[in-house]
Amino acid sequence: MKIIGLNGSPRRSQSRTGQLVQEVLNSARTAGAETEFININDIKLDFCIACGKCHNVGYCILKDDFEPLMAKIMSADGLVVGSPVYIYQITAQLKVWVDRLGGPTIHCQKLLGKYGAVVATSGNTGENETARYLEATLINTGMQCVGRIANGIEVDSLLSTDSPLMQNAKELGLSLVQAIENKQEFPEQIQAHRHFKEFFRFVLLKQQEAWNWEYKYWQENGWL
Ligand SMILES: Cc1cc2nc3c(=O)[nH]c(=O)nc-3n(C[C@H](O)[C@H](O)[C@H](O)COP(=O)(O)O)c2cc1C
Repeated sequence: MKIIGLNGSPRRSQSRTGQLVQEVLNSARTAGAETEFININDIKLDFCIACGKCHNVGYCILKDDFEPLMAKIMSADGLVVGSPVYIYQITAQLKVWVDRLGGPTIHCQKLLGKYGAVVATSGNTGENETARYLEATLINTGMQCVGRIANGIEVDSLLSTDSPLMQNAKELGLSLVQAIENKQEFPEQIQAHRHFKEFFRFVLLKQQEAWNWEYKYWQENGWL
């Protein structure tokens, strides 16, 4: 079992979000998972330029670290995504990754069968909205989300090892491993996947030529 952690904070070793994502991974590793932690600022991700080519070829044509990152995520069973709240939202750095999911990853539910968990930290506001946004994004890719940490951390320093949030992170890591092992089902999220497919089927039927790769993917999966 493999789990990837992606931290959307630019603060690397000074990031509380990163500490929590790493603690989720530590706990998952103790429970037997192989893990990898990635800081968004250590990889190169350019803005989506809305060229639309991904719909027709099945991958993003920009030459940066997006496709290698997605290959890692595709080979994993779980994904932990964290972001600090930047003005009631995820960071701009992480949003670049989210926008790039807007082609085949979301349209073709490429992460179906995988499990996610999210972390959002703030000064004192916006953490619940931000966590909800991240969860909705992961569910949109076909994943199921096992839980979240959303917290306002007023003091601007690293978390101590005995912080209750670190305990929450440990529990989240364990829940993630258990969900993967037991192929747990979250009925509301499965329903959301079903709704997405019902709606998107009509979009694809209209876009058959312009979005040929995605159309074929749906056809091969018997979704049309
Ligand atoms: C550009 C910027 C915008 C922020 N906006 C908010 C905000 O809207 N609400 C809030 O409570 N905290 C806000 N914060 C504080 C961070 O969300 C908070 O310190 C967070 O825990 C930092 O996470 P990190 O240590 O992982 O980088 C902001 C910080 C920065 C640098």
